[in-house]
Amino acid sequence: MVEVANKISLHVPNAEVGRLDVERIRNDFPILRQKVRGKPLVYLDNAATTQKPQSVIDAVSHYYQAKNANIHRGVYQLSETATRAYEDVRSSVKRLLNADSTREIIFNRGATEGINLVASSYGRAHVGEGDEIIISAMEHHSNIVPWQMLCQEKGAKLRIIPMNDDAELLLDEFEKLINARTKLVSLVHISNSVGTINPVKHIIRIAHKHEIPVLIDGAQALPRIKVNVKDLDCDFYVFSGHKVFGPTGVGVLYAKEHFLEKMVPYQSGGDMIRSVTFEKTTYNDLPHRFEAGTPNIAGVVGLGTALDYVSGIGYGNIEQHERELTKYATEALSSVDSLRIIGTAKDKMGVISFVLDGIHPHDVGTVLDQDGIAVRTGHHCTQPVMDRFGIPATSRASFALYNSEEEIDVLVNGIHKVIKMFS
Ligand code: ALA
Repeated sequence: MVEVANKISLHVPNAEVGRLDVERIRNDFPILRQKVRGKPLVYLDNAATTQKPQSVIDAVSHYYQAKNANIHRGVYQLSETATRAYEDVRSSVKRLLNADSTREIIFNRGATEGINLVASSYGRAHVGEGDEIIISAMEHHSNIVPWQMLCQEKGAKLRIIPMNDDAELLLDEFEKLINARTKLVSLVHISNSVGTINPVKHIIRIAHKHEIPVLIDGAQALPRIKVNVKDLDCDFYVFSGHKVFGPTGVGVLYAKEHFLEKMVPYQSGGDMIRSVTFEKTTYNDLPHRFEAGTPNIAGVVGLGTALDYVSGIGYGNIEQHERELTKYATEALSSVDSLRIIGTAKDKMGVISFVLDGIHPHDVGTVLDQDGIAVRTGHHCTQPVMDRFGIPATSRASFALYNSEEEIDVLVNGIHKVIKMFS
């Protein structure tokens, strides 16, 4: 047991590094050592999911080897150990986000479930016929469909903040959309398909002037920038563990306590109750009221280790690295004739979508894969963004702290090969 624990700590990187030591970081990620089709893997699909450092893999394995029991239930030692491991991560998330209390941190399956929870528990209670919900033109389907379903159920209306040709939101238009019927604003922090960093703090301030609560989808932001929910003053913030180097199937909803206090449970069953009779059930305290059933305990433990890993490297270093990579990649890709970048916002990061004249993105992805380059092709769960730009799909390269400029060079060479092959 001690051996495993030591091994984990060895993989925690040095918080003092100035610029990222990418080579050293890459050593922490075993999957990056593999070859694909005989070529070194160039993994550029980090917006879809990130790879896992050894410390996260070890933490999940170690949990099952040494700590596994159900939580909040047993009086025996192993259950207490598992409960502590799980609840310690809640405290880490609280500190990371600068939330007021662990009562505001709800574990779930990911950003999608967090948004569904808010739409179901908050939305159903506060949105009625003729009311309006504002989202933006660059939302992921997971921040469109739950609101659309709610609007259909309630006879409410979805209003959309438009964007310009650079994929920047039109803030004046946002202000014009607000009216007495607006019940909620739900918005992405960093776009998964075009990389725009939205001025969420500004948008939240405007919404709050009208006493409208705001949900922020932080799935792409949390792996890249320091998020401080108190500074943003957002009412709800969601993110997914697997996009921040943690396991799949685990995520977080942050919500201000006074909202959670008034919200009905999203799902019901074990652990979310205080007492049950056939006549009546009373609910557990926060945050357990919103965590029905046995949660993904090992996933939460792995997420905690992933967040430690990120904190160990330092958000300042990660943000600088991702901004530099994005700039380098933008310049390198712009030099390719017949390539058009979709999404040219002044403030963007981590994601570059592009199209090649006359070549379908799926063909681009398939040919790049021959060289071991993994990019995502398609609509990236943002079909309205594709419609806005009049295209069916893009190829998308998205970065993480372990990507290097050399890998961007490999991508650019690969794109030249694609163009040659199809010309
Ligand atoms: N939301 C993920 C992506 O952008 C799946 O690829």
